[in-house]
Amino acid sequence: MRAILKSKATVVAAVMASTTMVAAEDVEVLHWWTSGGEAAALNVLKQDLEGQGIGWTDMPVAGGGGEQAMTVLRARVTGGNAPTAVQGLGFDILDWGNQGSLANLNDVAAKEGWDDVVPDALKAFAKVDGKWVSAPVNVHSTNWVWANKAVLDANGIAVPTTWDEFTAALDTLKSAGVTPIAHGGQAWQDATVFDAVAMSVLGPDGYKAAFIDLDEGTLGSEGMKEAFDRMAVIRANVDDNFSGRDWNLATAMVINGEAGFQMMGDWAKGEFLNADKVPGEDFLCFRFPGTAEQVTFNADQFMMFDQGGAVSAEQAALASAILSPSFQSAFNVVKGSVPARTDVSDADFDDCGKQGMKDLAAAAASGNLFGSMAHGHAAPASVKNAIYDVVTAHFNGEYDSETAVAELVDAVSIAK
Ligand code: BGC
Repeated sequence: MRAILKSKATVVAAVMASTTMVAAEDVEVLHWWTSGGEAAALNVLKQDLEGQGIGWTDMPVAGGGGEQAMTVLRARVTGGNAPTAVQGLGFDILDWGNQGSLANLNDVAAKEGWDDVVPDALKAFAKVDGKWVSAPVNVHSTNWVWANKAVLDANGIAVPTTWDEFTAALDTLKSAGVTPIAHGGQAWQDATVFDAVAMSVLGPDGYKAAFIDLDEGTLGSEGMKEAFDRMAVIRANVDDNFSGRDWNLATAMVINGEAGFQMMGDWAKGEFLNADKVPGEDFLCFRFPGTAEQVTFNADQFMMFDQGGAVSAEQAALASAILSPSFQSAFNVVKGSVPARTDVSDADFDDCGKQGMKDLAAAAASGNLFGSMAHGHAAPASVKNAIYDVVTAHFNGEYDSETAVAELVDAVSIAK
């Protein structure tokens, strides 16, 4: 027993030494970009930094949506060993910023004019008390559907623009023996689907009232019950093995023609591209029926953790590399997202990317741009997790729609 304890202690000491011994000129980056498409995009950033002589210590924590990464981050910060830079989303960034854990990037931001080119919707999550605390990498959005074109063509299905057309397409695929919807049963994926479904039923005002303003009346409304009813229809159109499946494996089902559609953020496009698939030829991207004008967004940012003093030269270099217009184009072309700056040309983007950039600008101009509930841009993590629990319990058949609505009202009022 003693020997076991001793060897465990040795391992812990070795791990701690290896993480604290990051060379002065290295950056240690904690992130959850572990799928094929995500890793390809991350390489664009690694290579950019390596070109500047800055080494990269990789700290990947698998788990789409980043929940597991945030758990590891909390342990590292509590242990007094925060990584140099950490992928973060929305309210999580604000939480760390308000706790005073993040370095001040104002010098590099001022020198490079970030205030003039980063959209307000992103600044709201990148600045705390007038201080830039993180560097926005991209803008993703969650209300997309991805389809296998050959499967749709073979079954005479046109891109559905209404819920009724969508359910008709699902019926056709089911009768043809094709899995209509590829899905991974993980809470964050259920919630990602719910983002789009709720937007399509409640409309932009209802979405904002429910998930951003946390209005009890809207959370408990007939519209919300209808959203849950539609989730049950989606549940009836996934395969038997959906439980626990990773999102990129669900994307692979659409890529290889096992399934017709996947409802997922545009990081899914990174998987299609990584498999050498071409938009418009091999796969189709379109907004979830009934949400053509709206964008529910999430922006990945790199929070720079305060290493005890001013922002380090490596952190400033990383932040500057991330915001450079050429990097914003090169990275987002591969990742599936769109640039976090308004002045980047769409020339290098494929048709889905071009549409994503247009949709984002139009939604921002018309007041139709909203933070994604599922990806931490609508409400703090406590509320997000409370919504996750209800959406997942309903998806798995534990609640009928009426019960889900009542549980949602209760869960949000306790969490907020
Ligand atoms: C992130 C994406 C990532 C996806 C799946 C989202 O929360 O914003 O960058 O690709 O999770 O891992």
